[in-house]
Amino acid sequence: MRLSVPWTALVFLLVQGVLPASPVKKIGNSMGRFANATLVRLSEFLSAGYKKGVRPVKDWRDSTSVAIDLMIYSILNVDEKNQVLTTYIWYRQAWTDEFMVWNPEDFDEVKQVSIPTANVWVPDILINEFVDVGKSPDIPYVYVTHEGLVSNYKPIQVVTACTLNIYNFPFDVQNCSLTFQSWLHTIKDINITLMRSPQELKEDHSLFMNQGEWELLHVLSAYKSFSLDNDDYYAEMKFHVSSLIINLFYSTYSPDFV
Ligand SMILES: *[C@@H]1O[C@H](CO)[C@@H](O)[C@H](O)[C@H]1NC(C)=O
Ligand SMILES: *[C@@H]1O[C@H](CO)[C@@H](O)[C@H](O)[C@H]1NC(C)=O
Ligand SMILES: *[C@@H]1O[C@H](CO)[C@@H](O)[C@H](O)[C@H]1NC(C)=O
Repeated sequence: MRLSVPWTALVFLLVQGVLPASPVKKIGNSMGRFANATLVRLSEFLSAGYKKGVRPVKDWRDSTSVAIDLMIYSILNVDEKNQVLTTYIWYRQAWTDEFMVWNPEDFDEVKQVSIPTANVWVPDILINEFVDVGKSPDIPYVYVTHEGLVSNYKPIQVVTACTLNIYNFPFDVQNCSLTFQSWLHTIKDINITLMRSPQELKEDHSLFMNQGEWELLHVLSAYKSFSLDNDDYYAEMKFHVSSLIINLFYSTYSPDFV
């Protein structure tokens, strides 16, 4: 059971002799294994000294312009009683990060790379009408081009407060708004623009899953800057989502309204 003295000595020698050398060797090997991989070199180049908590502009006087876009994928639920609309949207936002730039010639012609969202600055843009955090998957990566354009795309289940009109049954047009704004930043720091023209956005039904009761009519957009104290101005982008009920026998309607 017990190790004899010579065995103990041998084990001691092995530990002394082998262990201190091997970690050094291993680190050396793994560096060699990754050092030439272009994406590793690029990742290290981009992250060296990067401060993700700092708005990525060289001149602080420049506002960061965030281009946003929205596609309605599905209308999941219309709850007249609680005046809540649940939609599933594909949301896209993109902005320029002046520090995420590189010369493709230095990196084997790589012009675009995906990097963890957690490692870059992202704007704090959210939807005003949110009443519930829906079940939205977490998308862990953003795309960055060599010119610093960061594309942050994500699907969002939006549960929003909305005044639902239920008086014109059965020709019922619902008009709900989704307002995107930076919660903290004034227009001097973050401005919001549209990624596509309002006309393109209005008529885009390409993603909409027409599954029954609801039909998407159109999505109107409107930009506004507003101030609470006539001093600091905030940017907002409002989308009006109009939908039409198409099932005449929609079960939650009360006969009182007919
Ligand atoms: C790394 O790349 C250089 C130049 O392309 C090449 O000469 C070298 O052999 C490579 N080293 C490894 C470990 O692949
Ligand atoms: C929805 O509301 C907005 C703002 O009140 C208005 O501009 C738009 O025309 C409305 N759409 C419909 C279909 O009523
Ligand atoms: C903010 O963006 C809008 C377009 O969405 C533009 O009309 C406006 O001039 C911009 N304002 C500033 C201060 O950059």
